[in-house]
Amino acid sequence: MQKLLIKGKKILSGSISVSGSKNATLPILAASILNDKKTTLKNIPLVKDVFTMIELLDFIGLKTKINKAQNILKIQKKNKEINTVAPYRIVKTMRAGILVLGPLVAKYKKAKISLPGGCAIGTRPVDLHLFALKKLGAKILIKEGYIYATAKDGLVGSKIHFPSISVGATENAIIAASYAKGKTTLSNCALEPEVGNLITFLKKLGCKISVKKGRKIIIYGTLKNKQVSQTVMFDRIELGTYLIAAALIGKKIIFPNVIPRIISNEISVLKKMGVKIKLKNKKIIVYESSSIKSTNIKTQPYPGFPTDLQAQMMVLMSKAKGSSSIKENIFENRFMHVPELKRMGAKISTKNNIAKIYGPSKLSGAEVMATDLRASVSLVLAGLVADNRTIINRIYHLDRGYENLEKKLKNCGARINRI
Ligand code: UD1
Repeated sequence: MQKLLIKGKKILSGSISVSGSKNATLPILAASILNDKKTTLKNIPLVKDVFTMIELLDFIGLKTKINKAQNILKIQKKNKEINTVAPYRIVKTMRAGILVLGPLVAKYKKAKISLPGGCAIGTRPVDLHLFALKKLGAKILIKEGYIYATAKDGLVGSKIHFPSISVGATENAIIAASYAKGKTTLSNCALEPEVGNLITFLKKLGCKISVKKGRKIIIYGTLKNKQVSQTVMFDRIELGTYLIAAALIGKKIIFPNVIPRIISNEISVLKKMGVKIKLKNKKIIVYESSSIKSTNIKTQPYPGFPTDLQAQMMVLMSKAKGSSSIKENIFENRFMHVPELKRMGAKISTKNNIAKIYGPSKLSGAEVMATDLRASVSLVLAGLVADNRTIINRIYHLDRGYENLEKKLKNCGARINRI
C-alpha cells in the first residue's frame, strides 16, 4: 500500500498551476451521454474519480479516447446498443456515478443504477435526485440495492422546488431536463460554479437555460446532437488547498490562470486571518505572513465557505493565534481528520457539528491515516508545517481528486515522496 512521506518545515516558493476541476468534469461527462456526436473536453484532471466516470461511460457503451499528455478527452456514441446500467462495482467507489441516472432515463427511457451507499463523511442519500426525476415523470423502484428508473414516453418538463440544496441533485435534474419535453423550472438550486460550467456545456448542445434570482434555473429541453468542445474550469478546491499551504509555509507562491472572483469568499477569510494575498487579473500571489489570526467560519452552499475546504482550514486555524471555530453545515460526519490532527499536536475539541481550534499549536510529525479526500489533504498540509517526518497512510483517497500533488509541492521545494 502506498504512503506519503513528508519531511516538514521546508519553506515553499514558486508557482503552482491549478488543474481542471474534478467536480465540474464529472457532471459534464455524465451529460455527454445525451450527445450522439463527438464531445471534446479539455483541461480534464487526470484523477481517479474522472477515470472511474470514464470507465462507467465505456461500460454504458460510449467510445472514450483520452490524451493524457494534453488532458483532453473525446467521447462519442458507438453504433452499438447502449447499456443503461451503472453497476455496483463502479458506483461504489464514487458517488457521482448517480449522475448518469438523469441522462440515461431521459434519453433511453430506462436506467438501472446501483445505490451509492454511505461514505465516511456522512450517509449522503440520493432522495433529492430521485425526487427531481419523479417530478419529471420517471417511475422509480428500488430493489436489491439498485435504482430502477423508467419513463416509457420520455420525461416531461415540470416545476421542481428542492426541499434542500444539493449540488448533485441540481446537476442531475438540469441534465435530465435538457432532454425532457418543454420547460422545467428548478428552485432552491445549488449554484456552485461547477453547475455553471455544466450549464455552459448544455447550452452549447442547444439547450436554453437561464439562471434567475433566488436560486432558480429555467431549462427548455431543446438539446440537439452536436459536435462540441468545452474547457473544464479550474479546480477551486485545489486552488483553495494550495492557497492554505502557501499561507502556512510559503514565502512567495504564484497561482497563474485562475479567476480570483470565483473564490472571493475564501480569499476574504484568508485576508481577515492576516494572510498576505495579492490579486491580479488572472493570478493570485501569496506572500509570507508574519502572523495568522484566528477566525470563525461556517460551511454553506456556494457562495458560502465550501465544506471541501473545511479540513484544510482547520490546519491553518491550528497555527493561528487564539481560538477559532468551524461550523460544518453540509455533512454530518466531516470531522474525521480531527483525531489525526490532534495526534500531530493540534488542540481541537468538537461538539456535534462545531469544532473549536485553539492555536497556535506546534505540530509534530506522526504516522497518520487518511479517511476521505479532503481529510487526507489536510494531513498533507499539517505534515508540511510539522517538525520531523509525517507518514500518511491510505493515500488512495488523495488520488481521487488531486492531480500531481507531490510534483506540484515538490516544484515549490517541499520534501514529499510516495513510498
Ligand atoms: C458535491 C461535491 C462534493 C461536495 C458537495 C457539497 C461533486 C462530485 N461532489 O457532492 O465534493 O463536498 O457537493 O459541496 O461535485 N443530500 C441529501 N439527499 C440527496 C443528495 C444530498 O440529503 O439526494 C444531502 C447530503 O447528504 C449532504 C447535502 O445534501 O448533507 C449536500 O450534498 P450534495 O450537495 O448533494 O453533495 P454532492 O453533490 O454529493
